[in-house]
Formats: sequence, structure tokens, C-alpha cells
Amino acid sequence: MLSSLPPGGLAIVIGATGGIGAALLQQLQSDAAFADVIGLSRTSEPPLDLLDEASIAAAARYVTSRAADQNMPVRLIIDATGSLHSNGHQPEKSWQQLDPVNMAQSFAINAIGPALLMKHFLPLFPRQGKAVFATLSAKVGSIGDNRLGGWYSYRASKAALNQLVHTAAIELRRRQPLALCVALHPGTVHTALSAPFAKTGLDVVTPTESARRLLAVLEGLNADDSGGFFNHDGSVLPW
Ligand SMILES: NC(=O)c1ccc[n+]([C@@H]2O[C@H](COP(=O)([O-])OP(=O)(O)OC[C@H]3O[C@@H](n4cnc5c(N)ncnc54)[C@H](OP(=O)(O)O)[C@@H]3O)[C@@H](O)[C@H]2O)c1
Repeated sequence: MLSSLPPGGLAIVIGATGGIGAALLQQLQSDAAFADVIGLSRTSEPPLDLLDEASIAAAARYVTSRAADQNMPVRLIIDATGSLHSNGHQPEKSWQQLDPVNMAQSFAINAIGPALLMKHFLPLFPRQGKAVFATLSAKVGSIGDNRLGGWYSYRASKAALNQLVHTAAIELRRRQPLALCVALHPGTVHTALSAPFAKTGLDVVTPTESARRLLAVLEGLNADDSGGFFNHDGSVLPW
């Protein structure tokens, strides 16, 4: 149970159709800390598409009115969206495979979309008490940890996401001192995103286990941790 958050609030999972997002939604729905849990995705009602800012704004208005109707402050927002490969586009092994259209798509989904989520959802947090916005980044977005190279667009878009999280956290702190904005690495998790790259020997966890670990990390964070980049075991990752 997320007992560090004031009880009776509203939790939101964006990307609730994804492997990790669905597991987070399921665990939050059985967490007594929350009065209600909303899952948003491209197929939810209302739909939320990261490539369509109007849909993000409409989803935030929907959450605002539901929170007001039932007198539930928004306490937790987890962004579990993201893209590593799509439409036949695979992560680059060499600079020779760099393609501006595919790069722009990675940035649109992994960095710009989550930034728009911050724009429309961070203002929903109450002025008082702990509240958390967490976005799923990736350890491969760490520049300090990059020893293997490759995956240019995914790495760079997640590095950009990390910078956006850190920047938004500074602004958030001025408005809501107890609210957090953080980036999380979920581990290597068995989902559609990771399946094409699964190798034996990698420490792969189930979405259920990853979700359990991520919620435990959020439970242990406090306002001083806002703006940070955390591994699924709670340790701090290098930028
Ligand atoms: N799996 C891993 O090993 C791993 C490792 C490190 C980091 N991560 C990160 O963890 C996050 C979740 O990954 P996952 O493994 O759960 O992937 P997944 O199963 O492929 O889920 C991706 C989610 O992103 C959503 N999405 C994609 N494009 C979208 C758009 N334009 N608008 C709204 N939603 C969109 C998908 O929605 P639809 O259902 O509508 O397509 C889906 O809900 C990602 O940020 C990923 O980079 C995962």
C-alpha cells in the first residue's frame, strides 16, 4: 500500500494498455490508499494520444472534473507510455541507420508527449501533501551509463525526457513543495517493447514484479528526491 500518500486520492496511469502500465493499473486498483484509479490510453474514454495535444488537454479536463465531483485530490500520476520500435523501425545499431523521420517519432513519443503530460497534468496536484508524477524512462537514456552505444533515437529521447523531468521538478517545487516529478527505470521487463531484444542471461522480470518494485520506490521517495532518476531497486541512476 502506498501509505506515504494521503489516503482517499485519485491515481492515474497513462499508457494503461502497455505491459507495465496494465500491471501498475491492476496493483493500484487494489491499493486501499486510493479512492479511485483511472487508466488512460489511446483506446480509453476519453482517449489520450501523445501525438495529439488536444486529446491530452481533454483527458486532463476529464480527470479534473472527476476529481472535483468526488472530492478526491490527484495524488499519483504514472506515465507508462513509450516506444522503442514501431512500423518496422528498429533501434539503430550504427549512425548509418539514422533516419530523421524515425528520430522525430521517437522524440515525439518518448520526450515531447510526456512533456505535454507534465504541462496538462502537473497543475492538477493539490497544494498540500505528497503527490507524485512518475514517468517511465530507461537506463539506456543515461549518458553516464552508456558503454555499449547504439539505439541512438531511443537513448537520446529518454535522455531528453530525463532533462524535462528535472526541469519540471524545479518549477513544481515552487508551486507544490511536497509534490514530486521523477523518472524511473523499470528494469528489463517482459513486454511487447522488449520482446524482440530478449536475450538469455538478461535479468528479465515480469510486468507484475516490475510494477511492484516501482510502486515500492515511489512509496520511499520524499520531496527532496523530486527531479531524480531512479532504478527499480530505488537506487539513483547517473544522468
Ligand atoms: N520493457 C522494458 O524492458 C523496458 C525497459 C526500460 C524502459 N521501459 C519503458 O517503460 C515504458 C513502458 O514500456 P512497456 O515495456 O510496458 O511497453 P509497451 O507494452 O509497448 O507499452 C507502451 C505503452 O505506450 C503507449 N503508447 C505508445 N504510443 C503512444 C501514443 N502515441 N499515445 C499514447 N500512448 C502511446 C502504448 O499504447 P497502445 O496500447 O495504444 O499502443 C502502451 O500503452 C516505456 O517508456 C519504456 O521505454 C521498458
